[in-house]
Amino acid sequence: VKVAALIPAAGSGTRLGLGPKAFVPVEGRTLLGRSAAALAPHVHEVLIALPAGLDLPGDVPGRAVVGGDTRQASVLALLRATDADVVLIHDAARPFLPSRVIRDLLAAVQDTGAATAAMPVADTLVRADPAGDWGTLTPREGLWAVQTPQAFRRAALIAAHEAALADGHAATDDAGLIARAGQPVALVPGDARLLKVTTPGDLLIAQALARVWDA
Ligand code: C5P
Repeated sequence: VKVAALIPAAGSGTRLGLGPKAFVPVEGRTLLGRSAAALAPHVHEVLIALPAGLDLPGDVPGRAVVGGDTRQASVLALLRATDADVVLIHDAARPFLPSRVIRDLLAAVQDTGAATAAMPVADTLVRADPAGDWGTLTPREGLWAVQTPQAFRRAALIAAHEAALADGHAATDDAGLIARAGQPVALVPGDARLLKVTTPGDLLIAQALARVWDA
């Protein structure tokens, strides 16, 4: 079984405000470099979707593909660039990726065909009212926050992407597209360290975490 890691890293990083997010360094290594290095030992190839006109930094293991206007378009470009049987899709924006999560996903995808890292929600959840104040309480029991990596049989995920493209359906992740196609997705325990670096506040947390991670 050939396994490829696919890393969408073509985002502009608007909310962080430091240029293309994948290239932002955290304690001396880029988000992309950290993510790619975590995946490389577990897979046969690493493919990375980059913004048009940018090259892969020399210290990043992998092959570059030009990304699209959305994460979904970037992932489809990556899927079309590999012949692997199984793909592990992981956001460059989640640089702290424990090996245990990768191993669990690769085991789960053999059984289910699709699996994602996810964490049980710990906070109280509320849907705000139109004024932005407390609206409707949503019981958190049984709710999970979905992370990446996510693992799939490539053929099934390409079909789900092409169906979504034909319907004009926009998705925030790939597991959602598989679920939309009526197929099961296993939830594998993720990790608190898999936080997605989105805002300047997240970057501060990532810098603190990097010192522990790299020690
Ligand atoms: O913007 P957000 O943090 O949700 O992006 C998640 C991941 O998708 C990031 O790693 C980002 O680089 C990637 N992305 C992409 N192509 C886009 C937009 C986002 O590869 N057009």
